[in-house]
Formats: sequence, structure tokens, C-alpha cells
Amino acid sequence: MRKIAFTNQKGGVGKTTSTINTGAGLSKLGYRVLLIDMDPQANLTYSLKTHSDKLNKNIYHVLKGTSEVSDIVIKHDEFDILPASIELSGADMELVNEPARENLLKDALREVEGSYDFVLLDCPPNLGLLTLNAFTASDELIIVLQSEYLALHGLSKLMDLIKIVQKRLNPDLKVEGIVCTLYDKRKNLNREVVGHIRDYFGKKVFDTVIRDNIALAEAPSHHKTIFEYDGDSYGAKDYMMLAKEIRNGY
Ligand SMILES: Nc1ncnc2c1ncn2[C@@H]1O[C@H](COP(=O)(O)OP(=O)(O)OP(=O)(O)O)[C@@H](O)[C@H]1O
Ligand SMILES: [Mg+2]
Repeated sequence: MRKIAFTNQKGGVGKTTSTINTGAGLSKLGYRVLLIDMDPQANLTYSLKTHSDKLNKNIYHVLKGTSEVSDIVIKHDEFDILPASIELSGADMELVNEPARENLLKDALREVEGSYDFVLLDCPPNLGLLTLNAFTASDELIIVLQSEYLALHGLSKLMDLIKIVQKRLNPDLKVEGIVCTLYDKRKNLNREVVGHIRDYFGKKVFDTVIRDNIALAEAPSHHKTIFEYDGDSYGAKDYMMLAKEIRNGY
């Protein structure tokens, strides 16, 4: 079971889109996939066909210890989902006195150990306790970068946090790769930025670049993955390629 968190404290770079559609790609490749929404915005949860009556129990209650993972899991055609809700927004404060508060998710996931081939975690756009829980529960991180100016800005803070987690909480955590998103090949700047990212991170950067593709932006409003919404789109092609690269490992 590989546990992979999609992260970047910068907002709107494509973390949620990548978590959903990489998960859908891996599912199409025949793997058992679980998606975990760790963001109080709950974009992943609401982008998919999730039943609102089940959402009164969500990952917040699992972290608090009042629900089991099996109480909150939602079955989707392509994967299972552990949903989030706005209640998570208080988690940083509420869980501050909890013993081993960075380990809450990791401990909860023992229940599903072996039930999935891939667990993909969608992180919020900050480096707070929820991100820390995601990093502690994961074996691998995928850093999502938008192919725009300032893509690398603020990344040293993320790298510092990864080093601290590796040292104190999760020595096995590794950066599996870097994925560039929202790429428009007509824009010189996008090409330059991706070149710069490749110079900087070398082989860590996935060969697959996720192109700017309107279908990827439209699919969530139809509560569909890109493969359900438009299987012939660039978005579907790119996320299938990324899923294959991840499957093949580094
Ligand atoms: N490759 C793409 N092409 C076109 N639109 C995209 C692409 N990737 C993401 N988007 C759109 O860009 C917006 C931001 O994407 P997304 O929600 O995945 O980012 P995020 O990093 O999860 O944001 P947040 O930090 O707020 O959680 C969304 O409206 C999404 O539909
Ligand atoms: Mg998101």
C-alpha cells in the first residue's frame, strides 16, 4: 500500500485536481484506490458524487477519535473517499492538546492497511497540523507546482517542513516527485518556468506535465473525474500518463 500526499502550501496550483484524477487513473489501471480529503475547503469531497447525508461524519471525526475510518468511507465508482468538511477548519486549534497530535491520521489508517494499493491524500494550502498529519501518515510526497512565475517561491518553507518531519516524525518519508500543472505550451513563460524547475530539481520532476485543459476545470461541477467527463481530453491523457509514471516508481 503506497500512501502519497499531494502538497504545496500555495493555493490553487492543482493539488485537488491532481489527487482526484491521478487516483482515477490508477483505478483505471486496475488498482484499489482510497482518496483522503485533508482540506477544510473540502473541494475534493464536493468535486465528486458524494452523498451529503453521509457527510455529517467525516475525516474530522476520525481525527478527533469519535469515528472509525469504516464509519465515514464513501464508495465511488472508481475509488473510495474519506470526505472532509468545514468542521476541519478548527482542527489545528482543537487538537492542539491531543497527545501525539501529528500521528492521528497515521494511527487511524492502520484500520485500512492492506485494503488498498494506493492511498492519495489531498493537502490544504498551508503547513498546519492537517498537513503535518498527512506527511506523517504518508510514505511519499508529490509536490504540485503551477507552471507560472513564482512557482518556486515559498518552496523552501515546504522543504524545511519535510526535513523536520523526516527527522522527528516519519524517517521514511520521501519526495516521490514534482508535477508541473496548468501548463500552456503557447506561453513562453510556462516553458521557461518548467525548464527552470527541471534544472533545479532534475530527475525528481515527472516527465508528464499537466496541460491547462478546460475539461479539467469543468469536470468537478459535474461531479465527475476527467475520465468520466471527457476521456479523450488532454487532461485525461496527462493524468493517465502521470498515473503510469507513479505506478512505475522512481
Ligand atoms: N490542468 C488544469 N487545467 C485547467 N484548469 C485546472 C487545471 N488544474 C486545475 N485547474 C482548475 O484550477 C483551479 C485550482 O485547482 P485545484 O483546486 O486543483 O488547486 P488546489 O491546489 O487544490 O487549490 P487549493 O490550494 O485551494 O486547495 C480549479 O478551479 C481547477 O478546476
Ligand atoms: Mg485543493
